[in-house]
Amino acid sequence: MNTTFTEAVGVARPRVEGRDKVTGAALYAADVPVPELLFGAVVLATIARGRVREIDVAAVQDMPGVVGVIDHRNAPRLDPETQHFFGPDGGLLLLQDDAVPFAGRPVALVVARTPEQAEAAARALPVRYDEEPHDTAFDAAHPAGRPAMTLFDGPVDVGDVTAELAGAEVVVAERYRTPEEHCGAMEPHSATAWWEGERLQAIDSDQGPFAVARVLAALFRLEPARVRVRTEHVGGGFGSKGMCGPQLILAAMAATLFRRPVRVTLTRAQVFLATAMRPMTEQVVRIGATADGRLRAIDHAAAFEISPLSEYIEGCTELTKTLYAAPAIRTRLTAVPLDVLPPFSMRAPGAAPGSFALECAIDELAERLGLDPIELRLRNEPAVGPASGLPFSGRNLVACLREGARRFGWETRDHRPRRRREGRLLVGTGVAASSFSAGAFPSTASITAEPDGTYRVLVGATDLGTGARTALTAIAADALGTTVERIRLRISDSELGPAWGAGGSRGTTSWAWAITQAAAELRARARDPDRPVTVTADTTGSLAGLAALERHSFSAVFAEVTADPATGEVRVRRLLGMFAVGRVVNPLMARSQVIGGMIGGLSMALHEEGLRDPVSGRHVNADFAGYHIAAHADVPDVEAGFVDDHEPGIPLGIKGVGEIGNVGTAAAIANAVWHATGTRVRTLPIRLDRVL
Ligand code: MOS
Repeated sequence: MNTTFTEAVGVARPRVEGRDKVTGAALYAADVPVPELLFGAVVLATIARGRVREIDVAAVQDMPGVVGVIDHRNAPRLDPETQHFFGPDGGLLLLQDDAVPFAGRPVALVVARTPEQAEAAARALPVRYDEEPHDTAFDAAHPAGRPAMTLFDGPVDVGDVTAELAGAEVVVAERYRTPEEHCGAMEPHSATAWWEGERLQAIDSDQGPFAVARVLAALFRLEPARVRVRTEHVGGGFGSKGMCGPQLILAAMAATLFRRPVRVTLTRAQVFLATAMRPMTEQVVRIGATADGRLRAIDHAAAFEISPLSEYIEGCTELTKTLYAAPAIRTRLTAVPLDVLPPFSMRAPGAAPGSFALECAIDELAERLGLDPIELRLRNEPAVGPASGLPFSGRNLVACLREGARRFGWETRDHRPRRRREGRLLVGTGVAASSFSAGAFPSTASITAEPDGTYRVLVGATDLGTGARTALTAIAADALGTTVERIRLRISDSELGPAWGAGGSRGTTSWAWAITQAAAELRARARDPDRPVTVTADTTGSLAGLAALERHSFSAVFAEVTADPATGEVRVRRLLGMFAVGRVVNPLMARSQVIGGMIGGLSMALHEEGLRDPVSGRHVNADFAGYHIAAHADVPDVEAGFVDDHEPGIPLGIKGVGEIGNVGTAAAIANAVWHATGTRVRTLPIRLDRVL
């Protein structure tokens, strides 16, 4: 059998569901018609710490349409031992007691016949609190800080950092800060739950219905087979839909109590206040080098906030173990528990803030050495994983830097700051290297060859708008030796079997693996063409070899900015990313994905900043007017290119493109701002007042 993966894979194709989306035929979670539907409106705590003293249900129960109110007194009991990402997770245990652990914690759900009636009653519901002193003030030296969990991005201490720094001819030691940031998916979180006999059914907006269904079943102490979660179209997730979200838990509670289908859709503000955020970080990077730009030591200590309710790791130091050769490398992560919304994965978790610190520090080192920052990087290209000692599956970072420099027009750059002016504007360019871990997680897929020559392909994948459906259709067609027209793909249903969610930049790789494995088994099988044949594959046993190599996607990001010295206004004029991401399945969508990531990085660099009022402990800019995300007017000429790359040991040679675009972009922009203005902005976002 000869599977070439060249007929459909590698061809630029628009999304298979594109027409449905632009004509409005695509149904998102809050659009799916369900008969006899009730609507739940969530009430969030307005204090940052304390207890609910009183919820005056009587005050709203006669309001129009109100069916009932759920709070900690009548909510179904959830299993507190339910395992989530990092173990038992108090973040899931909604309405179980009167404690208020942060401002934004759901304290009640009002259920009514229409969304407007539910919303009106939720607004009118009197909730009184006994307030306790809260602490939402993040500080890396906070006394409650403790080493972060080491499930991934655990600390490393290679060589003698102290001695190498002491012996270095040039040392950069700087502190970098990133604020609370919010995922900002366009589609607010929505879930609809109902009972069908003994089965709990749900339509949810999430990044992986299989895992979500398992968590929901565990919470409600149900056999997994009694819970089904579907997620058809998803309007972005960016990490915030990677979990079993409050919308789903509350909808399931209401469906259980009222024995009717209940839909819970968060408001925009509630998405900010009650789903997930990237934690604030403070990072100290120290790099020592010889006068000719050979690194001797990198020391990276990162602190981030968490909630005592939920363990979480913002893995800021991953790139520090990956990008550069140095005889000594030390990393540490400190978690600081505060009375804040439990942080969770957001757009290149860890790597995005971590690369801001590391790649700005590398640029500062280049400045002190009087070296081209690309040349500095080339001089420190490692032969093997600098901390792990493992060989790389492939890097191609040098190719990204060189080809990017060529396309961007880097050669003529004067590396000194504040040299270019256009009218009153200062102009500068900057670069950053980046990486994001690659690999695959276990998934299953099932393929049925039908007598009519079509194939039914079932995989518990999720398409967040990234084009996963389209990529998997092409992969299945090539794997089966047929055309995309003959592939009938079904995704987004917990019944389709165990599957990794759309996250960690491993979705397509994981699902493609299962599809190609099932296709190979199907093609190897003798069969009667008049009878359907189904093959199910599970990749669990196939992934063991992955760990023998360090696997990452790599890229180089280039930015050109203008800065107005009178106002401090920074505008990004050009962004270019060159990517080594393995085989590109669909050049059109891969480009969209990495460009989207770069725009996320631009947004992180210049705009995004969750603000918390220290007095109330509340997040105060919980909308798109106050929390700025890059809009069209902010987005300049953005271009992306892919270098030839092929990942060994993974079917089709693919790596992820999900998050790499986000990594490095903020540093490239900050470095360009320095080049334009001479000002190092080490705290994001790069606001006017920080440039002046
Ligand atoms: Mo992504 S932040 O792993 O959903």
